Formats: sequence, C-alpha cells, structure tokens
Amino acid sequence: MQKIEKLYEGKAKSLYSTENPDLLIQYFKDEATAFDGKKKGIIEQKGVLNNKISSRIFKYLEERGVKTHFVEMLSDREMLVKKLRIIPIEVVVRNIAAGSLSKRMGVEEGGRLKETIIEFYYKSDPLGDPMINEYHIKVFGLAEKEELAQMEASALKINKILSEFFDERGIILVDFKLEFGNHKGEILLGDEITPDGCRLWDKETKEKMDKDRFRRDLGKVEEAYQEVLKKVME
Ligand code: TMP
Repeated sequence: MQKIEKLYEGKAKSLYSTENPDLLIQYFKDEATAFDGKKKGIIEQKGVLNNKISSRIFKYLEERGVKTHFVEMLSDREMLVKKLRIIPIEVVVRNIAAGSLSKRMGVEEGGRLKETIIEFYYKSDPLGDPMINEYHIKVFGLAEKEELAQMEASALKINKILSEFFDERGIILVDFKLEFGNHKGEILLGDEITPDGCRLWDKETKEKMDKDRFRRDLGKVEEAYQEVLKKVME
C-alpha cells in the first residue's frame, strides 16, 4: 500500500490517502510539541519508536476485544489504519494525580486516585483544547449520547487492560489521552497510544518515561522512549 495524497498534517503525524478509500496511512514524525505548540522540538527517532509502540499496543488491545483503527504496520514510520470521521473530543483517563489535574485541584503529583477519573477536552488547536463536560458535548453536538457512552466504556476497558499490561512490565500507567472516530457507523479507537500521550512512570524509581521529559526539560527523552519500546515488546 502506497501513500497517494497528504490529507492532513498534524503536530506529530501526517495522514495520507491510499488506493483504498476506506484506508489511510498514518505517518509518524520526530517533531514534538507541548503546551499547545508553544514549545517545539525534535525527539530523534520518535516517529519510528512511536509507530512501533502504538502498533504493538493497538494489536494487543484488538486481541482483547477493543475495536481500533489499526490494520497493520507498513514500515518504520507508517501504519495502515481505517479511515475515521474523528470525534473532536480528547478523552483523558487518570489513575494517579499528575499534570493539569494536580494543578487544577492543588494536589501533589503521585497520589493514586480513589477512583479512575475520565475527563473530556474539546479538540481545537486555536482554543487550546478546553476542558468540557457531557453538557457541552450534547449542546454543541460533538458526539451522540450513545457514541459518548461507547467511548467512555471503551476508555475504561482500555485502562484496565493497559494498566495491567504496563504493570507486568514494571511501569505505572499514570494517565493517558484517547481519541475516537466513526468508521462505517462503528466507534473505533483512533490516533496513537505512545509516550507522547501517556504518562508512564518506572514502578521502582518513579522515573518519568514519557513526554514530560521533553515538556519539563528532564533530558534523556529518546532513551526513555527506547526503554518503553523495549518493555512493551516483552
Ligand atoms: P494533562 O495532565 O496535561 O491534562 O495531560 C493528561 C494526559 O493526556 C497526559 O498523559 C498527556 C495527555 N495529553 C495529550 O496527549 N495531549 C494533550 O494535548 C494534553 C493536554 C494531554
């Protein structure tokens, strides 16, 4: 399968059409951004590492009954995916207080939450992805009630599967972001699951193994992504 035309260029990935109108090629770049694109940089080999990490995780989820857009990994930086009409909602799942939750609620990073928290953000670069709730989603028509229920149920199932998956590999799944889309009337998990959109901490040392190393200038960013790839392939 070959790339035909670039349909969309995002901050970390591009999407291309293929000869099959139902399938796209997702191309992973090394570019990294943070804080709504205000911070920019390159993480060497990130595209290759994230494509491999995401392919492994999507395949693992598919095998456990989660419906995703993943078809197959085509090359180091290319993944064949089902074409989605993306639902403009970012679904964030949190197990441990960190990042914007710690800031918003005034709690220290690192405490396990009494229960998993799900948050919704409106996917809009010009607005800086504001946090929204079920009322905004309904009133502004971002998703149908049934679609939202499916996204929520899928997010909780993914959290259960991946929390165990990472735990077995010595990693704590702190929080992560998901995106969903509609393919021929079905809601599928889209986008990627990589250290760009997850917080992953070493179980023993609590060392950060994700994009916070880039956001917070902690160094050894590529090394951390390499380590995550090594662990997820176990
Ligand atoms: P936050 O604490 O900054 O709200 O981030 C929560 C999780 O969501 C974290 O794992 C990083 C991920 N995330 C993205 O993938 N994209 C984003 O634009 C934001 C804000 C967070």
